[in-house]
Order: sequence, then structure tokens, then C-alpha cells
Amino acid sequence: MIEFKYAKGFVDEEVYQRVIDEARTYVAKAEQDDFGGWVNLPIDYDKEEFARIKKAAEKINQDSDYLVCIGIGGSYLGHRAVIDALGGEKGRTKILYAGNCLSTRALERVVNELGDADFSVNVISKSGTTTEPAVAFRTFKKMLIEKYGEEEAAKRIYATTDANKGALHDEAIAKGYESFVVPDNIGGRYSVLTAVGLLAIAVAGINIDALMDGAAEERAALISDGGAAAEYAAMRNVLLFKGFDIEILANFEPQFMYFNEWWKQLFGESEGKDEKGVFPASVIDSTDLHSMGQYIQQGRRNLFETFVEIAQDYAGATVPKAEDDLDGLKYLEGRELDYINKTANAATREAHIAGGVPVLEIVMPNIDERSIGGLIYFFEMSCALSGFTLGVNPFNQPGVEAYKTRMFELLGKPGYEK
Ligand code: PA5
Repeated sequence: MIEFKYAKGFVDEEVYQRVIDEARTYVAKAEQDDFGGWVNLPIDYDKEEFARIKKAAEKINQDSDYLVCIGIGGSYLGHRAVIDALGGEKGRTKILYAGNCLSTRALERVVNELGDADFSVNVISKSGTTTEPAVAFRTFKKMLIEKYGEEEAAKRIYATTDANKGALHDEAIAKGYESFVVPDNIGGRYSVLTAVGLLAIAVAGINIDALMDGAAEERAALISDGGAAAEYAAMRNVLLFKGFDIEILANFEPQFMYFNEWWKQLFGESEGKDEKGVFPASVIDSTDLHSMGQYIQQGRRNLFETFVEIAQDYAGATVPKAEDDLDGLKYLEGRELDYINKTANAATREAHIAGGVPVLEIVMPNIDERSIGGLIYFFEMSCALSGFTLGVNPFNQPGVEAYKTRMFELLGKPGYEK
């Protein structure tokens, strides 16, 4: 189960308790929302599709050196976050990512990496019309057809999209691609535990049953009154009210870099509207203590920090013994690196609290499928409760359209001429 802790002394405890009580009332609101499908997803998902995902993952591992995952935002960050956090691909097939930007150089890099290798494509788009993935899909589809011919290419394309509508849905039907569904009642950034994320995660050799079980266990802990998620959601809002309007998610494991990115999208897109919201930022320590640490310790006092902690110790590398003590490390000889990392984490928390930074802690049991499934669910619930407490709709993203409209005008898309 995920645990939530916080440094005392930064907020009025009575006010905090009142806001927790309010946040708890929003669990039912989230569940009943048209986009609240993620709330019961861990115990109520399409088992037939789940089995097809596993089968497709096996086939891809048999016939492909690479799976190119094409998607952006909620159709991209979740699976990348999970695969990286769990240490990367374990089987034959390596995952490459495309369609998450419009950079020629980024596209070329993926094409070059593929070389002559065997590959398949998972194109993921709920709307089926997002420009970035649509452009990339054309490129990789063409490559597949040139390499394998139309018929075999179609067998190497997996489309994850709306069940009934959209350009990608129509193409998948017309060409006979194996298709998976983005449920209507789950928005992009809450969709990692649907086919959107699960196919790539399964291809990477990650146990998706355990991932779902972990999410289901966390759901059981939160579903009646929001549990620790309501406490975290309330604390974010109380801190925001006191002027702490930047939250830095801090992690001492570099393999959580994309998890941080997923978290930033989840909270940024859910809360940043109506001129409200905490600005989500992130660091990977101790690396970033040597770049951002100075600001966090002594810069403007408008930020708070949320540390993601791993309870379980990780036995592994130790500081080697040496004949001399020229580097001054004798006092650490034989110590596990994980112990030193965790000590750096504790020291950072203490130093930042002393520097006036409200410090929160999210403690997960370990880095494994169950814990990651639980952490995903915890953050999704926290985000929904936090958004409702803030007074915004945590499930829409009306602002994302503004750049698209202007881009279409500038590119001369039919229907967008000025
Ligand atoms: O969270 C969201 O809803 C967005 O980030 C979308 O996932 C993103 O814009 C991609 O949309 P689509 O899946 O329709 O291509």
C-alpha cells in the first residue's frame, strides 16, 4: 500500500483536516463522472481484450526486434513510464517511441535505429486524428509495406483507438489491423492501465497481471474514503492556498524519469486551468541536487517537494575496499550503494525542510509490478480528488486545442483558413 507522510509545521492542522474531509467526498464524484472509468478499472476490465494483449505481445516477441510505439501525451507517457521504472525490456523486443513530437531529427533517429531489423508498430490515438502520431504512422507504415508487403505489414500493425469512430478506427477496420480499445470513459492521462499502456508494457516482458493486482489492492485501500490519496490531495491544496504553487516530484532512482513525466502530465493537464493549479516540476536526485539543489534550498519560497520513496532496500553494489584512503572513502568501505542513496535522500529532505520547503513523502513498498500498479492508481485518485478540491474539472483539457488550432491555420489545413 502507498503511504503518505508530511513534514509538520507548514500548514494549520485544523484547516488541513477540514480539507481532507472535503477531498474524501470527491471519491464518489470521480467514480460517477463520465470520465471516471479508471476508478473501477483494476477490478472491472475487459478480460477478453487483456488475453488478446498478452497473445499479441507474445507474437511481437517472436517476430520483431523492435516495437515502434506511436502516440503522444496520455497515449505515450504511461507505458514509457512503467517500462523504464521497471528496468526496461526483458525479452527480445525493444521498444522505440515515435509520434510524440514533430522533430525530423527524432524521427530519423528511430528510423536509423530500426535499420534492417524486424519490427512491428503499435499506433495509439484515442481521437485517431492527432497530428504528431498520424504523421509518424504514415512513415512507419510505409516502411513496413516496403519491407514486408501490404499483407504482412497489416499483420504487424496494432491499432489502439476508439471502439467506434475516428480516422484510425476506420483505417484499422478497412485494413484488418488487430485493434484494441481506448475506453470512452477514460481520458488519455488516466489510461495507462488500459490497452493504451498494456500492450507495450506486456511486450516489454512485464507482468501485467501483477500490475493490475497492485492497482486493485490500492483501489481497495482508497475506494471508501480516498485514504492516503485524499490526504495528499488536501495537502497540495492547503499548500497552494498558502502560496506554495510549485510542486517538485523528487526521486532518487533515475529509472523514474519518465514516471515523473507521466506524473507531470497527469497533474498539469488535470489542474492547470481557469488560471488555477499547482505547477508540476520534477527532479531526479542526487543528480539534480547538483543543478537544481541550490534553487530548492535557497531560492524563492513558493515551492514544495514530494519525495517518492522506496521502502525495500536493494542489495547490490557496495563501496569497494582499497589499500589506501586517497579518496577519503574508507569510512564507507563495504557499505551498500543503496544505503548511501537512501541516506542522501533523508539528508536532502532534512536540509530542504530546514530551508523552508514543505516536504511530502509518498512511500511505495518496492520497485516491482505490484508497487508500480499501486503507485499509478494512488496518483490517479490523488489527482482527481485534488482537482475537485481545487474547483476544476480534472478530466478535461480544453487548453490543449489552442496550439493545434493555430498550427492548423498556419499549415493551411482545410477548414482552418483565416
Ligand atoms: O491526456 C490526454 O487526453 C491527452 O494527453 C491525449 O492523450 C493526447 O493529446 C493524445 O490524444 P490522442 O490519443 O487522441 O491522440
